[in-house]
Amino acid sequence: MELLDGKKISNQIKDEIAAEVAEMKKKGEKVPHLAAVLVGNDGASLTYVGSKVKACERIGFESTLVKLPSTISEVELLKKIKELNEDDDIDGFIVQLPLPKQIDTQKVLMAIDPDKDVDGFHPVNFGKMALDMTTFIPATPFGILELLERYNVETKGKHTVVIGRSHIVGRPMSILMGRKGFPGNSTVTLTHSHTRNITQITSQADIIITALGQPNYLKAEMVKDDAVIIDVGITRVPDETATRGYRIVGDVDFENVSKKVSYITPVPGGVGPMTIAMLLKNTLLARERHIIRKEEK
Ligand code: GUN
Repeated sequence: MELLDGKKISNQIKDEIAAEVAEMKKKGEKVPHLAAVLVGNDGASLTYVGSKVKACERIGFESTLVKLPSTISEVELLKKIKELNEDDDIDGFIVQLPLPKQIDTQKVLMAIDPDKDVDGFHPVNFGKMALDMTTFIPATPFGILELLERYNVETKGKHTVVIGRSHIVGRPMSILMGRKGFPGNSTVTLTHSHTRNITQITSQADIIITALGQPNYLKAEMVKDDAVIIDVGITRVPDETATRGYRIVGDVDFENVSKKVSYITPVPGGVGPMTIAMLLKNTLLARERHIIRKEEK
């Protein structure tokens, strides 16, 4: 069994980006600027956005955190998004999900300028991704592809089973693994809450990608020998012995599953850090496109 070490690979990627930023600074060029919109005080969202901002600082990006109250109206939030769309200093931005109930998430995502949509959630970008066009690929699926690529995990002709059909992970992942190229060329099964006999399906999988948010869901008996396991789950489970009062648990019963597989991502330290690294990569791309758009004007 080999660990797919997202912490190590994400640090390599961040170092690569930091070197590019250092070069920009040397030439007196503007560095990438990422903004993050955080609505409310959800603990997990605060942590994720905090990590994104910290990562920007580490590699030399500019960053802006826009904190808004949980009671904000949809109209006010849309106004803020318009401001960010029009702010020429900002190359890309994200709106951290989930949003409070009074806000229509789809409406908000559709209000983001697709050229600044570094999460790749706008329908235009999602459509481009599905059509193999160059675009922003959502950071978590993008991070999984990058891990598979850097560890040279064969995906061609393999049966990939994706568990969970969220718009952020499962759905895009199922499209990307079936695309032409590497990583890709997989035969994909997308499973979800209405799937019957899931064990029958997962036990035939060469690659399993779980994005369910159900701690220790995937058991050893559901997995065939030498499979590749990608665990996207990051659930906070109360733990009095931990300093924060909780620990992060993945969707996979790591202790038992890891004994029989060829590759597996740990939680924490697997997919999570890759998500942040790929958001930075998308922001770098957004800056390049921003410069090209300005030159074309
Ligand atoms: N919430 C959970 N994951 C993500 C993500 O990748 N982007 C945003 N904006 N919100 C999230």
